[in-house]
Amino acid sequence: MSRIHNNASTTQPIQPSEAFSADSICLARGRSTSDGDPLVGPIAQSTTFCRSGVGTNPEHQYSRVSNPSVAALEELLGNLEDALPAACFGTGLAAESALFLALLKSGDHVVCARGVYGGTTRLLQQLLNELGIETTFVDATNTDEIRAAVQSNTKLLFIETPANPTLGITDIAACSTIAKEAAALLAVDNTFLTPILQRPLDHGADISVYSTTKFIDGHSVALGGALVTNDQTILDRIRFIRKCTGAIQSPFNAWLTLNGLKTLPLRIRAQSTTATTIANWLAENQDIQSVFHPALAQGQAKAIADRQHIGLHGAVVSFEIKGDYQAACRFVEALNLCTLVEHVGSVETLITHPASMTHADVPRDQRQAVGISDTLLRLSVGLETTDEIIADIQQALQAANAHTAEASAEPTAESCREVANV
Ligand SMILES: Cc1ncc(COP(=O)(O)O)c(C=O)c1O
Repeated sequence: MSRIHNNASTTQPIQPSEAFSADSICLARGRSTSDGDPLVGPIAQSTTFCRSGVGTNPEHQYSRVSNPSVAALEELLGNLEDALPAACFGTGLAAESALFLALLKSGDHVVCARGVYGGTTRLLQQLLNELGIETTFVDATNTDEIRAAVQSNTKLLFIETPANPTLGITDIAACSTIAKEAAALLAVDNTFLTPILQRPLDHGADISVYSTTKFIDGHSVALGGALVTNDQTILDRIRFIRKCTGAIQSPFNAWLTLNGLKTLPLRIRAQSTTATTIANWLAENQDIQSVFHPALAQGQAKAIADRQHIGLHGAVVSFEIKGDYQAACRFVEALNLCTLVEHVGSVETLITHPASMTHADVPRDQRQAVGISDTLLRLSVGLETTDEIIADIQQALQAANAHTAEASAEPTAESCREVANV
């Protein structure tokens, strides 16, 4: 249960309220009890805000620094983790960039999980290293490996759990202990589970990281990122970096995200329930090489998932089909209901081929080292019926197999669609 500090899109707070569940918090913003107020809060689509005289200090002055619509989203995202108001950004990667700039300087060292979003790897490996910030990538499902990678100049541990896209589980509390011993900070990319299914700060993380572009918006209409912390010094530093670099989210995207958030609890629970059924179905299918979903975890990984996750294990399922790169391409092209995109977290079922899409910038040997084979596919389960999604996968597997049986020559290049790496 959290407290709602509910800001309207004006600078006046709405009624202070009782403690509410996450479900109610997501619906709270924009609610007003005043006569004639709109049920849905308006967008503060203004770059700047007026002053009554010289020397006044209104809460919002210029939208690169703060904006009422963005502030409303920040309040709500903070409430979902019983934290300070979030800092919202134009994209998830803008949030990560601000995090790194806020906490690191030349000569510092980062320990980062190998199983993170490919863009995070690219940022650390191809940009931050040029600024003199070195990163060691580790198998974060192995706590000993994380501990061994820590150096005297390590300032940050960065993990994503479940991992992207192989869905390995990392023990947040164990990482927090390692970080504290090293006087470093722990940041957790919680994009896949959202605060509805996992609250990293509860397990000792210092910062929760979000691409709100994914499940939090949920409708594929608004880019955004957010950083959530309970440490005022860290938050102030992050906001300073955001002001310097101009990476704040637009008011319109914050407003769209607030509307998407209203159904986040319902969406992510329904999508996760379907994902669990599909993961179990895939695990029984003879055309499937392997399946990855936290609901299938065993032993210690299962114990950690059960402790960290709130009831369900997320809507992303990864699996490898039997065959080669071309077989994976034929499979995704034969799908009718599931759509091939570089994205997760929407209401529609989406599929990604990480080797050629999200992780194309990660060198092949590194991809293989974290289990991203040429036939790995990442399914982001939507709100269609379970039976219809399974039927679509089934018929695409059959189509891919039929083609394999017929093909006598090497598959041609055009059997594999060129996809851009973002
Ligand atoms: C887990 C994760 N974190 C961060 C990002 C980056 O977010 P954005 O695309 O909003 O910059 C993504 C994007 O796919 C992601 O999947």
